[in-house]
Amino acid sequence: MPARFITFEGIDGAGKSTHLEAVAQRLRDGGDTVLCTREPGGTPLAESLRELVLNQPMDPMTEALLVFAARRDHVHQLIVPALARGETVLCDRFTDATFAYQGGGRGFDTAVLRQLEHDVHGTLQPDLTIWFDLPATLAAERRGAARSPDRFEQQDIEFFERVRRGYQARAQAAPHRIVRIDASLDRASVWRQIEGALESRQW
Ligand SMILES: Nc1ncnc2c1ncn2[C@@H]1O[C@H](COP(=O)(O)OP(=O)(O)O)[C@@H](O)[C@H]1O
Ligand SMILES: [Mg+2]
Repeated sequence: MPARFITFEGIDGAGKSTHLEAVAQRLRDGGDTVLCTREPGGTPLAESLRELVLNQPMDPMTEALLVFAARRDHVHQLIVPALARGETVLCDRFTDATFAYQGGGRGFDTAVLRQLEHDVHGTLQPDLTIWFDLPATLAAERRGAARSPDRFEQQDIEFFERVRRGYQARAQAAPHRIVRIDASLDRASVWRQIEGALESRQW
């Protein structure tokens, strides 16, 4: 069975969660065993760290270290074993989000993030990253009153535009891995773009 690691990225309200389950279904229909998970989180320890990161005030370095601590546990306890069993892993956010949020959004040193990326998950990179890109104002409209905002969702439009530029920089540095989806379009158009990315890989 082909082990694939696919990550979903983009600012809050971009449409990641909406489309993750549809991708899982499509791959299951094609015969894959699919594991859906998320970051920060995915293991009991990492979910505990998620609670802290989303709700407790902290400085940017503490935030970055907690996110990578959660990732370390997640990668070792869940992602790598699943890939070793030949499963497909779909993950709602991964290290690109750390570069975008802690690097772009908070202004934390990306050289330190690169070092942590190397030390925490070495050569493990997603086989495909689907980046849902849209203007921060539109994402904010979509989030609307749908959920009570966490520490990140409370940030202003300028924060999310910095996050967006953080994603853009990562996409430019890894154009084969990261596929940009125009997430400002309606659901059907977004889905067609995602299918196109999967089909071009014969997935
Ligand atoms: N293409 C789209 N057009 C309009 N609304 C959308 C679209 N995709 C998702 N939504 C809606 O926008 C909101 C945020 O989507 P969600 O998938 O939760 O985003 P994320 O997981 O990236 O934060 C949800 O209410 C969802 O139903
Ligand atoms: Mg979501």
